[in-house]
Amino acid sequence: METMIELRAVKKAFGSREILRGVDIHIRRGETMVLLGGSGTGKSVTIRHIIGLLDPDEGEVRVAGQKMNGASKEVKAKLRGRMGVLFQSGALINWLTVYENVALPLRETTRLPEDEIDRIVREKIAWLGLTPAMHLLPANISGGMKKRVGVARALTTKPEIILYDEPTSGLDPVMSQVLNELNNRLRDELQVTQVVVTHDMNSAFTIADRITFLYQGRVRKVGTPAEIQNSDDPIIQQFIRGETQGPMQIDAGDPTTKKTTV
Ligand SMILES: Nc1ncnc2c1ncn2[C@@H]1O[C@H](COP(=O)(O)OP(=O)(O)O)[C@@H](O)[C@H]1O
Ligand SMILES: [Mg+2]
Repeated sequence: METMIELRAVKKAFGSREILRGVDIHIRRGETMVLLGGSGTGKSVTIRHIIGLLDPDEGEVRVAGQKMNGASKEVKAKLRGRMGVLFQSGALINWLTVYENVALPLRETTRLPEDEIDRIVREKIAWLGLTPAMHLLPANISGGMKKRVGVARALTTKPEIILYDEPTSGLDPVMSQVLNELNNRLRDELQVTQVVVTHDMNSAFTIADRITFLYQGRVRKVGTPAEIQNSDDPIIQQFIRGETQGPMQIDAGDPTTKKTTV
């Protein structure tokens, strides 16, 4: 199957701290890949390499067959134009309505006529079930709706890839499940390639085609949810069960927390 995103032997250090120590990840077109791993293992750093916000010290990042790292600003911008990104905060603009927030990327990055923008914005809003909230401000909608507005906004530019960094954090279980179902619709109905960083094990097992488990700067295991769940690796078992006792090095590499083996 066609590879959409590829990291090859990616190494990245900040000062003397090696965060990625040779990471290989292959993501196929149309699949949902979940990145799992403890806090500070470099999941967000990995996402930032895929977006081209960071370049590796060594190794290679390819998106849709093209090299992202070291590419010109123009090439990076073009590749980035094929992606939608959803960070934790949702990053909606508080003084703009749902409608205006969703319309923003089209107004900023295209010269489409207003009636065409209106058509696309209404279509995305409807697809996400947000029509009744169209004229509300972000302050007056729920956390789950805010995330859906973020998705609607990302979809206006028809991304082939959507990257999510902890999309369900701060959501209650029902809202999280709404977002999980949305992830699955994006894959099944729109064939979007998705990369999702999450700590939410339920979400990971609900949406993932495959899971990449990162540990101490390396890929410890790649597999289907069943393969991860049935792994006999004690570190993976400790992580997915959320146990405090076990072999896992907690917060490996994060100087803001004590390095302890509990
Ligand atoms: N731009 C940066 N400069 C220095 N250190 C960074 C930078 N970005 C991330 N780090 C560090 O790299 C480590 C991994 O960060 P991150 O990818 O955000 O972890 P997580 O897996 O929790 O998303 C952390 O210890 C973080 O402090
Ligand atoms: Mg992170």
